[in-house]
Amino acid sequence: MGRAQAQRAMAPGPGYPLHLRDLVDDYLAALRFAREPATAGLEEAMRYSLLAGGKRIRPVLALATATAVGRDPREVLPLAAALELIHTFSLIHDDLPAIDDDDVRRGRPTSHKRFGEDVAILAGDGLYAEAFKLVLREQRGEPANVLAAIAELADATGVNGMVGGEYIDVRALAGMRGVGLRRLHRLKTGRLIGAAVECVLLLAETPAPARPHFRAFAAELGVLFQIIDDILDVTGTDAELGKPRGSDERHGKLTYVSRYGLRRARRLAAESHGRARTELARAGAGRTDELEQIADFVYTRTA
Ligand code: IPE
Ligand code: IPE
Ligand code: MG
Ligand code: MG
Ligand code: MG
Repeated sequence: MGRAQAQRAMAPGPGYPLHLRDLVDDYLAALRFAREPATAGLEEAMRYSLLAGGKRIRPVLALATATAVGRDPREVLPLAAALELIHTFSLIHDDLPAIDDDDVRRGRPTSHKRFGEDVAILAGDGLYAEAFKLVLREQRGEPANVLAAIAELADATGVNGMVGGEYIDVRALAGMRGVGLRRLHRLKTGRLIGAAVECVLLLAETPAPARPHFRAFAAELGVLFQIIDDILDVTGTDAELGKPRGSDERHGKLTYVSRYGLRRARRLAAESHGRARTELARAGAGRTDELEQIADFVYTRTA
């Protein structure tokens, strides 16, 4: 399969808010990081992973949340792009030999395969820092609201969020010390997806009655996303996924499939999708159709 064909196989199709994804892609493509020639190679590595495609679920979710609470999605593009920078950082580090040791990501050789481990680690570090710079410099809004969103972004990606979740994963601590599998999924994947909604609620000063329902929707969607990721690691194809199938099994990872089997994992995913949709219906005075599309896509996706 050629590269263009591979990119098409991975791309979300109709039923996904592609106009929002296009806004995100254009914004990301225009970002530059290096101010001096000596670091141009680092910028090249950062952009190599960032612009390799990807579903852009987290930024698209942020933009769709803006629409749902009555704002212009373009207002939150810096925040949305920052979510994708952080996500891309997490993928580069997740693929490293010391973690999941994977060779393909987004249909391309992983960062460490292409640039070496040293540069891959630094490309991840660079993306994480540049994400915060982007929100601090470019995100418009009441300063107190912007600060609250940044604090949420940091918390959701730090020790009590994504990085902590990756730690629980690599040390195989889920199932021990009272940490359940759902908790693992909530931390390593759910909190960043949750932040895509939460940060926009904070920026937009969403009326109080809708907030807990949006939050519960986002939390459930985040867990659902990783349950489906676990299922696809078993049932997907390399071409569709743009990453190697079977990575979890190779590493003896605890996943929804290894714990519950495929049938039950699918049932749990269906229940999770149902809960997410219910919360969204409870939240929704505004235009929640794009959020509904995203929830359905997360549940039915094959890539
Ligand atoms: C993969 O994320 C890593 C997980 C958190 C499960 P995505 O499936 O969103 O990957 P891209 O961004 O589309 O490549
Ligand atoms: C990764 O989970 C989650 C983060 C990158 C934080 P996985 O290891 O399951 O993601 P994939 O399957 O490699 O995309
Ligand atoms: Mg991993
Ligand atoms: Mg992995
Ligand atoms: Mg996975």
